[in-house]
Amino acid sequence: MTESMDTEQAEPTSGSAFLEERIRTLLQQMTLEEKIGQMAQVPSGGGHLPHHLREAIQRGQVGSVINEVDVATVNELQRTAVEESRLGIPLLVGRDVIHGFATVFPIPLGQAASWNPRLVELGARIAAHEAASRGVNWTFAPMIDISRDPRWGRIAESLGEDPFLTGSLGSAMVRGFQGEDLSAPGSIAACAKHFAGYGASESGKDYNTTNIPEGELRNVYLPPFQAAVDAGVASIMTSFSDLNGVPATANTLILQQILRDEWGFDGLVVSDWDSIHQLAVHGFTAGDRDSAFEAATAGVDMEMASQTYAHHLASLVHDGRMTIEHIDTMVSNILRTKFRLGLFDTPYTDPSLLPDIAAPEHLAAARHAAVESLVLLKNDVRVLPLSAESLCAVAIIGPLADDQQEQLGTWIFDGDARHSVTALQAIRDLVGDRVTVHHARGIDTTRSHDRGGFDEAVRAAEQSDVVVMFLGEEAILSGEAHCRADIGLPGNQEALIDALAATGKPLVLVLMTGRPLALERVVPKVHAVVCAWHPGSLGGPAIADVLFGVESPSGKLPVTFPRVTGQIPIYYSHKHGGKPGTPETFVHIDDIQARAPQLSVGNTSFHFDVHYSPLYPFGHGLSYTTFEYDSVRVDPPELAVSGTITVSAEVTNTGDRDGTEVAQLYVRDLVGNVTRPVKELKGFQRVFLAAYERRTVSFTLTPEDLSFFGRANTRIVEPGRFHVWIGGSSDTQTRAEFDLTD
Ligand code: NOJ
Repeated sequence: MTESMDTEQAEPTSGSAFLEERIRTLLQQMTLEEKIGQMAQVPSGGGHLPHHLREAIQRGQVGSVINEVDVATVNELQRTAVEESRLGIPLLVGRDVIHGFATVFPIPLGQAASWNPRLVELGARIAAHEAASRGVNWTFAPMIDISRDPRWGRIAESLGEDPFLTGSLGSAMVRGFQGEDLSAPGSIAACAKHFAGYGASESGKDYNTTNIPEGELRNVYLPPFQAAVDAGVASIMTSFSDLNGVPATANTLILQQILRDEWGFDGLVVSDWDSIHQLAVHGFTAGDRDSAFEAATAGVDMEMASQTYAHHLASLVHDGRMTIEHIDTMVSNILRTKFRLGLFDTPYTDPSLLPDIAAPEHLAAARHAAVESLVLLKNDVRVLPLSAESLCAVAIIGPLADDQQEQLGTWIFDGDARHSVTALQAIRDLVGDRVTVHHARGIDTTRSHDRGGFDEAVRAAEQSDVVVMFLGEEAILSGEAHCRADIGLPGNQEALIDALAATGKPLVLVLMTGRPLALERVVPKVHAVVCAWHPGSLGGPAIADVLFGVESPSGKLPVTFPRVTGQIPIYYSHKHGGKPGTPETFVHIDDIQARAPQLSVGNTSFHFDVHYSPLYPFGHGLSYTTFEYDSVRVDPPELAVSGTITVSAEVTNTGDRDGTEVAQLYVRDLVGNVTRPVKELKGFQRVFLAAYERRTVSFTLTPEDLSFFGRANTRIVEPGRFHVWIGGSSDTQTRAEFDLTD
């Protein structure tokens, strides 16, 4: 083993003091080149160890390898590092395991629709086990960028628009990946990304500039990252984007002042792929040498893919621009992560210690996650659930009904479509010979402009009692760099709906999508809409169970659905403004008289040509039963700055079916040192209610929960009046109020 192992005889023998001592001891033995070597993350050979990589590892020039999932190759990489490099420092082996490994869970945005941290944690745990069995010890997840622009393809990877929900679910993912003991078999290091503000890319175009005032950065974009740090996340990845003129990869405010000094993060910060080299492309530096200097001094410890550190850090130290102390801090952050992972003690992977890839219990968990991710957006004439007993025939239409690959969604490098069960297959299995299933694709892909399959689809509809259409977006239309300027249904899908609507049959739309779609024109043409996102390996059975009432839907939107693309950005937690649009002041373009005088249309905040409300608000989601809220109350009636307050309401299942409701707590701070949002989510609970059951739901609030960053960009708690709501969606009206007192 390595000389560093000598420290095992030192006292103390565990805990952070011991860890820091081991790091110091190792650092003392390292040359500057070996230190800089630890900062390099390089691509793997993909299933073999190329000669140049072996040599680089032997020379101590590699700290991490990215994208190797062949366990024999990973073990050979580790053996080379541990046995053939001078100091025997093991490697971090990184991989994007975003929503499952071989077993694919719903896309993160879909998982977020479950509003179920335990389910999200389990999904990450299973993904960690499968990835770890291939030698991966570091994943680049959770992605916790607040995403309020559905044009941005990466919204699919996100947990939605809200800081509180994203923080809760992102922390759950961290716990799932890392387990209680990061060094245990099956635990892998998580990486909260992309730090920070990436979701605010202008016009929803990936990699674009972001301009986020510091107050908004702190109040909206950073809280999920702080929650991840509090949950013990091992690493952070910087964003590709320019943040207020200083690209995130070189942004000292966020990387040093906030992350390290204010939050006390002592883990590893990695760049995004080539993002240090790209500092010059941004026009922030004149070339790689300056880029290396800016990123390193801002606090990026490891460089992914590009090699500016390898080429320039040593000379920057020799020239006196960078200190060896700074280099040591960077290396310590990397070594600390390797020690925490237990890699010095157990560098090799023994897959027999872990469950099989795609084990039955993994697939069962993916199915359950898919069920909870489904959001029933509309069910006007209670066309759902379908009854296998009373239907004679059902038409299953659309390019996404029977595609094992597309249902997996974006970012599934290791997803194995052979484990996928499609909706068509699952519906056939579920109804057996009780119901005839007519299947027609209707249209080749979601983007096709042809009508060649319309006639067959219409014939299938005419022979059926009900039509279920699987439409939306294929996986390739969302994810990194897959952005859209118009988020309606692509291709000829709307025309297909029109053709099917002309049959007069009840229409159910199952939306498979990586983002909210703008469906104002489409929704009135159909009777029911189920948002299934990209539901993963077992999405098919989950959809079948919900369509046929084996399960009642319980998902709630983690993101607003706009009516039309032009409404973006539209999100529930917006500011009130001085002249808000209201039902009384709204004027539709068709109602404006010819030659109307300028001041005749109200002068409040709305678009003339679309209603000012969204199509579906954040938090919306129906069930096969109905829930009602009443009696929102607070106890005690005032919240003292050192106290707590309990907010309660009665929730009743008013239907004759059991169901699960997500009760949501929102507050509004009426007057602020800076203007405050009209509503902010502060709590949620999944509540199971039997038919006609009535139950109290309660939440506790503290002044800390009501604090925010004010004009001086410091956290403040301001006395004053608050409104508080408990309900089943962000548009809830069931409200109480209280004062926060000195
Ligand atoms: C670029 C992406 O932005 C990031 O999310 C991902 O983890 C890295 N590439 C590695 O694949």
